[in-house]
Amino acid sequence: MQSRKISFPLVLINFKTYRESSGKKGLELAKVAERIAKETGIEIGIAPQLTDLAFIASQVEAPVFSQHVDDVEPGSYTGHVTLEAIRDAGAIGTLVNHSERRVRADQVDTIVKRAKQLGLTIVVCTNTPEVTAAMAALSPDMVAIEPPELIGTGIPVSKAKPEVVTNSVELVKRVNPNVKVLCGAGITTGDDVAAAMRLGTVGVLLASGVVKAKDWEKAIRGLIEPLIKK
Ligand code: G3P
Repeated sequence: MQSRKISFPLVLINFKTYRESSGKKGLELAKVAERIAKETGIEIGIAPQLTDLAFIASQVEAPVFSQHVDDVEPGSYTGHVTLEAIRDAGAIGTLVNHSERRVRADQVDTIVKRAKQLGLTIVVCTNTPEVTAAMAALSPDMVAIEPPELIGTGIPVSKAKPEVVTNSVELVKRVNPNVKVLCGAGITTGDDVAAAMRLGTVGVLLASGVVKAKDWEKAIRGLIEPLIKK
């Protein structure tokens, strides 16, 4: 099991179920991200496909997240994913309630509470400022505001819908200031990341801008460029 804590700013790359980031290719992408993170000191997390989680986590030091988890304990739950299983696979935490894998609020509540006992980091994905505030009330480590209509479009939330991000940041401050806010959807360039940081986030959650890029190294270096202290 990994035990290290996350530092901020954080760039978290979700591999989703893209072919470009499956299996051995997923490991290659994880290694590229790890190398750049080590060289620059910028925290780059990865969320590989569930079936690749243990395989990739055993070969990189980068913080590895699951893409999803269920609210069940180990036992008689065919097809479910437990917090214990992702921990034993080497993940330090998990995304939950992604717009492509929604989970009920009461289930998120159970997951957050159980994750605290297990020392796992939870990033709850949300779609609106109001849902972000509601999820922040459950005290996860992070929330990630991602308007679903911008996901995979290359149109960055931090530029196209800055008010969604700033309203989320404001509401989270009021509801539970301990919760850190990421934003995602369409984030592709360093400029998009810089805009996200200016809006009050501590980092970004993204997928296609890296996974679908012809040159992963160039894409990741471009993204983190504004985060490097000169
Ligand atoms: O989890 C990240 C995500 O949903 C955003 O996807 O492809 O717009 O970066 P993408």
